[in-house]
Amino acid sequence: VSAQASEDPVSVELERPGDAAAVEALVDAAFGPGRYAKTAERLREGRAPQPGLGFVALEAGGVIGTVRLWPILIGGTEACFLGPIAVEGGRRREGLGALLVERALDAAEAADFPAVLLVGDPYFTRFGFEKADVRMPGPVDPRRVLIKVLRDGEAPKGAVEPA
Ligand SMILES: CC(C)(COP(=O)(O)OP(=O)(O)OC[C@H]1O[C@@H](n2cnc3c(N)ncnc32)[C@H](O)[C@@H]1OP(=O)(O)O)[C@@H](O)C(=O)NCCC(=O)NCCS
Repeated sequence: VSAQASEDPVSVELERPGDAAAVEALVDAAFGPGRYAKTAERLREGRAPQPGLGFVALEAGGVIGTVRLWPILIGGTEACFLGPIAVEGGRRREGLGALLVERALDAAEAADFPAVLLVGDPYFTRFGFEKADVRMPGPVDPRRVLIKVLRDGEAPKGAVEPA
């Protein structure tokens, strides 16, 4: 997958172990230290990024975008959680966020997850995310808890926990 950037081409690739430091720096810049206080972090803390479930937008070898997926349970049903997703401040609104979301959704589907959950704003409705009926492991604005079903059937409901 690639997007037309101003100069060098941008590609979206599987995250590799060597990308982790650049990914962390990008996420820190996007969210600040408050990122660790977010309820979504309860689904990630103490876990390493999952092989095959992280993607980076690369330009001239540098990481300018990131998205990760995490296996979770929703009411006992396996699913995955999307986040964090971030694009470098000077490179937003070029479609890179959309490329990263689409790639993550493809990966979730390929890995046979029935649904993808996230905490985010209305930006994500364009990808088919809808309001979820779940209980997150901490305080969160329920309007921001969104789910996309990847298979036929109803959206999983219930308590969300790390898988
Ligand atoms: C959210 C984010 C990843 C989107 O990346 P991006 O590369 O700018 O996304 P795209 O270029 O695919 O889409 C941009 C479009 O989405 C809209 N958009 C971007 N962020 C939005 C938001 N938070 N709420 C509503 N719309 C948003 C823009 O208005 C733009 O629409 P337009 O093209 O009609 O102007 C990026 O803005 C970012 O890193 N933000 C900071 C971190 C963050 O908030 N992450 C999401 C937390 S859930």
